[in-house]
Amino acid sequence: MRIYLDNAATTPLSEEVIEVMVDCLRDLYGNPSSIHADGRQARAAIEKARKTVANYLNASIGEIFFTSGGTESNNMALKCAVRDLGVTRIISSPIEHHCVLHTLESLEKQGVEVVLLPVDQRGRVSISALEKTIQQGDKKTLVSLMHANNEIGTLLPLHRVSQICEQYGAYLHSDTVQTTGHFPIDVEKTRIHFLSGSAHKFHGAKGCGFIYINGDAMLKPFIDGGSQERNMRGGTENIAGIIGLAKAFELANDHMEHRRQHISDVRQYFIDQLQENLEDIQFNGDYDGDSLYTVLSVSFPQSPKSDLLLLNLDIMGISASGGSACSSGAEAGSHVLSAIGTDPKRKTIRFSFSHNNTKAEIDQVVAKLKTVVTTKQLVG
Ligand SMILES: Cc1ncc(COP(=O)(O)O)c(C=O)c1O
Repeated sequence: MRIYLDNAATTPLSEEVIEVMVDCLRDLYGNPSSIHADGRQARAAIEKARKTVANYLNASIGEIFFTSGGTESNNMALKCAVRDLGVTRIISSPIEHHCVLHTLESLEKQGVEVVLLPVDQRGRVSISALEKTIQQGDKKTLVSLMHANNEIGTLLPLHRVSQICEQYGAYLHSDTVQTTGHFPIDVEKTRIHFLSGSAHKFHGAKGCGFIYINGDAMLKPFIDGGSQERNMRGGTENIAGIIGLAKAFELANDHMEHRRQHISDVRQYFIDQLQENLEDIQFNGDYDGDSLYTVLSVSFPQSPKSDLLLLNLDIMGISASGGSACSSGAEAGSHVLSAIGTDPKRKTIRFSFSHNNTKAEIDQVVAKLKTVVTTKQLVG
């Protein structure tokens, strides 16, 4: 049996999610835009899913729109805020996901001012720099900061950031792809204009996500077409993906506390075992402070063995990742690791956990890591 420690890249589907999706694929084949009974049945299922997502976020039903995932939701928030709300300046950070950073690059080419705030060695965004920057000039501003970093796990003090944005009249977008379903988010308590979620990060299917758009910052469609998603996103809906997303979100929220406890225990056990069994290990990000409990970024000392660590782990049946999924197998060039000043000569591996992982698996991983780092006859 392989050991899967790459849950920040994607999570395996829950059995319950597979069941509702298969039922949906079989039974809800009507086009939700059709007015006959089959269409109405499919439409009702989507609206029920929307209600589920809205309820857990304490949002209104009319503020949730299903998309193809985190990338689309983030693109939509940023590009449509510029197009529809007159935003001319975006304040963000250098450690955002590429779907945000590359969107910012293209908006900058169109004349939008982009300011990237400094981050410290743990990947914490400078809140004082945010406060200072947000007060400068009189441009309509959008702050876009990720709730948790997918490579190193560092968490943003989202509530504090939202208070600052409110105080200075800025819009707030947060890429919450790594935190929806893992941390409680209440948009009544924490005022955010746009947030994004992706089903495959909380045991739903790939290719399906959502965007929350606060009713006071309504956007126009990002994808033009039919009147789907209340005229906000053209294209026949991915019904099974949406139903699966809602089921996965329900399970993630209902079991959040005990999953969180279990995953945190497994992660802490991994930290302890690594420190006990391997030499010169470093942990990246705010790993013992405000961090995503699902992610542990570990740097190994430079050696010919460590260069092929990820490959050898893979051969031994362990799935982990370099920086992030997009750079799996080759973390060289991770913009996040270089922004926080990680020594590029060290080998960094991101291990990321779910409630399916156990301490027994950690024992096996640590034993194998020891072998990989110290044995001669492995690849490399
Ligand atoms: C922080 C973050 N934002 C956005 C995305 C993109 O989400 P999706 O894969 O649903 O497009 C990811 C996925 O890796 C992510 O980790």
